[in-house]
Amino acid sequence: MGQINRDDFYELIKARKSIRQFKKQEVPAEVLNRILEAAMHAPSGKNRQNWRFFVVQGQKRDEYLKYSQKSWLNIKDILHERLKPSLYAFTERFFFTLGDAPVLIFAYSQNSSEEKHYTSIGSVYMAVENLNLACVAEGLGSCTMGAPLEIKKEVDEFLGVTELEDYKKGELELLCGIVLGYPDHNPPKAPRQIEGRVTWLK
Ligand SMILES: Cc1cc2nc3c(=O)[nH]c(=O)nc-3n(C[C@H](O)[C@H](O)[C@H](O)COP(=O)(O)O)c2cc1C
Repeated sequence: MGQINRDDFYELIKARKSIRQFKKQEVPAEVLNRILEAAMHAPSGKNRQNWRFFVVQGQKRDEYLKYSQKSWLNIKDILHERLKPSLYAFTERFFFTLGDAPVLIFAYSQNSSEEKHYTSIGSVYMAVENLNLACVAEGLGSCTMGAPLEIKKEVDEFLGVTELEDYKKGELELLCGIVLGYPDHNPPKAPRQIEGRVTWLK
């Protein structure tokens, strides 16, 4: 392995932030393949590599917008209380347009009685963060989204997952969506809270 520059590594980690507005520019297939390969280099419980990704583009991506709008209905009231009006309006627009993101990726876990549920889930999220970081390296932006879970069953059907044998056995579980593309805004980095997050023991 070649020498990886420490400062570059931390810079990459810190450069990642959720992007919610994208250029109408396609992402080349080889770039998508590289970020998915990076995702699949994540560690996983018992090395089961239990992530499953569904990549949605083109007309299928356009069709998903009505599902995104529906998921908004389930969370808008909570966000109305939590967000200041301008951010609420931006978020609403984002759910209606997905920020024009040309690519949506849905991450599933293939669960198994051989593995603890949380371990399976954690393994997939490790892969998702690898993917987010690979996006930064590629000049892409991304946003992980829990919102599709609001309409889980409908997303399963939309993707055709309900037809798969593993789904019928109850083993496939949607964990999140990821929107990605070339960034068309540069939001401020959400401040990090360090206080009270780490307990040191000796
Ligand atoms: C599991 C998970 C679910 C999330 N769900 C959503 C979502 O549904 N909609 C959204 O706009 N952002 C979503 N986010 C993005 C967070 O809002 C974002 O990561 C957080 O505000 C910190 O900002 P940053 O990613 O720019 O550092 C989600 C992030 C994670 C990790």
